[in-house]
Amino acid sequence: MKRYTVTAALPYANGPLHLGHMAGVYLPADIFVRFLRLKGEDALFICGSDEHGAAITLRAKKEGISPKEIVDKYHQLIQNSFQKFGITFDIYHRTSSELHHKVSSEFFLKLHENQAFIEQKSQQYFDDSFQQFLADRYITGTCPKCENPSAYGDQCEKCGSDLSPADLINPTSTLSGLSPILKETSHWYLPMNDHEAWLESWIQNGLLNDLQQHNPKEWRNQVIGQCMSWIKSGLKPRAMTRDLDWGVPVPLPNAEGKVLYVWLDAPIGYISATQAWAEKTGKDWRPYWKKTEGKDTKLVHFIGKDNIVFHAIIFPILLKTHGEYILPDNVPAYEFLNLEGDKFSTSRNWAVWLHEYIERYPTKTDELKYVLTSIAPESKDSEFTWADFQQRVNAELADILGNFVNRTLVLTHKYFEGVVPSPGDFSTEEDIILERLEEFEPKISELMHAYKIREAQQEMMQIARLGNKYLADEEPWKKVKSAPERVPTILYTALQITRELARMAQIFLPETANKIYGMLNLSGDSWQGPLARLQPGHTIRAAEILFEKITDEMVEAERQKLQPAENLTNTNFPPMKELISFEDFTKMDLRLGKVIAAKKMENADKLLVLTVHTGIDERTIVSGIAMHYTAEEIVGKSVVVLMNLAPRKIRGVESHGMLLMAENEEGKLSALVSERGFEEGPTIS
Ligand code: MF3
Ligand code: ZN
Repeated sequence: MKRYTVTAALPYANGPLHLGHMAGVYLPADIFVRFLRLKGEDALFICGSDEHGAAITLRAKKEGISPKEIVDKYHQLIQNSFQKFGITFDIYHRTSSELHHKVSSEFFLKLHENQAFIEQKSQQYFDDSFQQFLADRYITGTCPKCENPSAYGDQCEKCGSDLSPADLINPTSTLSGLSPILKETSHWYLPMNDHEAWLESWIQNGLLNDLQQHNPKEWRNQVIGQCMSWIKSGLKPRAMTRDLDWGVPVPLPNAEGKVLYVWLDAPIGYISATQAWAEKTGKDWRPYWKKTEGKDTKLVHFIGKDNIVFHAIIFPILLKTHGEYILPDNVPAYEFLNLEGDKFSTSRNWAVWLHEYIERYPTKTDELKYVLTSIAPESKDSEFTWADFQQRVNAELADILGNFVNRTLVLTHKYFEGVVPSPGDFSTEEDIILERLEEFEPKISELMHAYKIREAQQEMMQIARLGNKYLADEEPWKKVKSAPERVPTILYTALQITRELARMAQIFLPETANKIYGMLNLSGDSWQGPLARLQPGHTIRAAEILFEKITDEMVEAERQKLQPAENLTNTNFPPMKELISFEDFTKMDLRLGKVIAAKKMENADKLLVLTVHTGIDERTIVSGIAMHYTAEEIVGKSVVVLMNLAPRKIRGVESHGMLLMAENEEGKLSALVSERGFEEGPTIS
């Protein structure tokens, strides 16, 4: 028995999961684990929510609730959909848990003790209005490599470059939309440059301290390629702490207001999750992670390609520097899945959400699994379309797999009252078929170990194709008249094919396999050793339909749902400002006013000096709208006036109140009132 620790990338608890996440991480990981378990291996399957970092705090700001509320909400939603979709984690943990905070702090301290970090002061971007340092997604700007105008402070999502805030051209705070200032701060850096030599030999040749750790031929080319290109272009020290108030506090003196970098704490989440599992089940976690207790354990990280650097370079550096941990045996990374000709996008609502699919089609999980595995982006990006979904379900699952199983069972009931018949002499073809049946398991096992899950599933479908063709060639429904002595042998053979199909289907199509086993009146098969045959005299149960056809109406309805919410969440809009309370709001005295005179402020491009009639007085208001309205244009307009803003002197002129205007995505301002005859403003008497 071999031991495996299989992890699937911890999803950020900042939104629901879509089919792209499933196809390119969670489903293949689950299939791999189901395979190992059926083989009788000791496989522990670890996942949980990634609940720290800017991905969470910015989402919280956008939804106007606290980070804690965000992670509670999405952790529940995500955990639920995993469970309903039949993703069989041994534990689905959370990085906001107490245990994780403890485990990751201790891990950090041990690294600190081992001199893993360099503490360094530097000037960093700071948003003065929010009193916050700007790292990662808190800052955007133009990518120096590809000129994408909305690259993040840690990464350009367009060209995939790894960035730091200082690389951005025209840096802008995500919080205020303003340009940041520079301010000194101090952080703990991981000098990744010191690790290049061993990383190169470990990634490329599987060698560590001259010991063979893994077979580099088993690693995907893209993973080795990406890592080598990073190493070749020179690794740089990377800050492992942040100035933020959400995360795991840095467990050192003089580190107030500092937390661990999310990409330091999240992978440690795999370890804390394992410990939580051990506590819950009374097992020992160490053999799954530690060098001494788990020397032969294979650690496998299933991830999306945007996570390669963190799992194949940064986390291994941390594990090795800590000293007590094994390194990954493989990092199967997936490319991206597209949807109907475009990228999946949460902000544009261009997605098929897993929880919605499950809600609409609770009995069609295997159909979705089958299609997602068929198009899994293993070596290049691939695409999901509803037409393709329909085609694969109808022409492959229903017409081939479902049809074969149904015919076999229905005919066994019709001719033999549901009892497995005794075969006569086998024909040459039948001898070949029965021999071939033994070859699928080793072939599929080999593909699974090479992480070629898509091909492995195709191999399973070959069993159904073989059976379907066999029945079509033999036509037992005709032979029952022309050569009735052949029929028992044909159905006996078809039933053995059905059982082997169910056995292999257990890893890809668990619901379907269960149904077939139910119909065969069996409770499942292991993957160890050759297939056990169904014995003559064994009684089977009634046949049921395995797959309904996908209708054109369903395809149409799903396509309709995909209308992108154009402009609603256009990224060009500045983000919403911080929430204010209702009490704050009611303090404002807002009234309709009418501009009765206006002139430009001398030597100021942006300012107009207005005289506004408010109904109770005539007052002077200095307004920064000269780029949007000329003095002539604004006179006569009725406007909303904030009456009780404390007077302020602007360029020597005292301003009493403020005009309310609305801003569009280009930053153009507009006077608000143009409805219900309010254009007239208050009556001037
Ligand atoms: N939350 C990250 C993402 O969605 C993945 C974290 S994987 C872990 O891209 F290793 F850090 F846990
Ligand atoms: Zn770029």
